[in-house]
Amino acid sequence: MLARTATLLLAAAAATPAFCWDGFGHQTVGFLAQKYFSSEANATFGALAGLSDGFDIGDAAAWADTVRGVDNLPWSKNWHFINPKGDDPENHVCVMNYPTDCVSQNCIIAAIMNQTSIVLDTEKPLIQRRNATKFLLHFFGDLHQPMHTSGFKYGGNMVRPVCWNTAAPCDGTRSLHGVWDSSMPRKLRGVPDETGPEEDKAVAVAWAEDLYDLQQAEGVNGGDVCADLSGPRCILNWAAESNKLVCSNVLNKGEAWILGNDLSKEYFDENAGLLNTQVGKAGLRLAAWMNAIASRLAASDDGEWLGGDDL
Ligand SMILES: *[C@@H]1O[C@H](CO)[C@@H](O)[C@H](O)[C@H]1NC(C)=O
Ligand SMILES: *[C@@H]1O[C@H](CO)[C@@H](O)[C@H](O)[C@H]1NC(C)=O
Ligand SMILES: *[C@@H]1O[C@H](CO)[C@@H](O)[C@H](O)[C@H]1NC(C)=O
Repeated sequence: MLARTATLLLAAAAATPAFCWDGFGHQTVGFLAQKYFSSEANATFGALAGLSDGFDIGDAAAWADTVRGVDNLPWSKNWHFINPKGDDPENHVCVMNYPTDCVSQNCIIAAIMNQTSIVLDTEKPLIQRRNATKFLLHFFGDLHQPMHTSGFKYGGNMVRPVCWNTAAPCDGTRSLHGVWDSSMPRKLRGVPDETGPEEDKAVAVAWAEDLYDLQQAEGVNGGDVCADLSGPRCILNWAAESNKLVCSNVLNKGEAWILGNDLSKEYFDENAGLLNTQVGKAGLRLAAWMNAIASRLAASDDGEWLGGDDL
């Protein structure tokens, strides 16, 4: 019943511009990951995701938000987040319990594990493995958006209205969730509120370049990243890290402060760096995960890592 309420409320919230990171955020994660792909992974997922000139890795990473609503795959709606029940950031408690908090195994952590098995299973139909590949490219982005791993007021969807570029108290429908999905990334990258597909793509390509350069300057090595496909260990660590950020950053000033201030000012300045860090980690970790899948597929005896059938 509770999960059902969460679903309905989240569906209502999705009618506002607040999708999990805006499209360009997910595209950025895809483009960044591709820079760290092994040549094996690049070839494998180019084919598995059906990449072409008209459908690149950025499009593939953003795809899941286009199918989760009333369209083709509404059952995938709850796969984009986890709402841990014990979260109480007002009292500095951010805590995720798995599998308890993953109600009916219907959450982002189970989704990543299940979709990983599907991609690895060369007996499965190619269309299913193609969708699973695109789901993975997407969920790593969501996993690193702290509001997607918090049970506080449905991942901050019900912390509203919050003010952005207006003095408090403000009216409107913007939520704290939406500020992290959309308002902050747009301000960080100097993107207006309304953009078209070409503009989004250009923003994503440039953001991925910048994050890659930043990581290279810091000596980041993709080879050090957790990539144990045998269980949810890595995914759980990353989700817990993201959940803790809700206490340390997202709501550290308390809900009353959040509702009483223009978040485009001091709040944005304090969290802009974290935004870069999280999107950067999402791309890097996604690449490590996908590289591990590709090498497992390449090592499979039959050499038929792409599977038999065609689309
Ligand atoms: C990776 O694959 C894409 C096509 O999916 C291609 O455009 C790109 O050049 C490849 N990158 C590398 C480094 O091979
Ligand atoms: C994952 O697979 C399990 C076992 O088949 C299933 O019960 C669960 O609903 C699946 N969850 C997701 C999110 O795909
Ligand atoms: C894959 O996704 C498409 C939408 O792009 C959908 O029409 C199709 O039913 C999905 N197939 C599976 C097996 O999930």
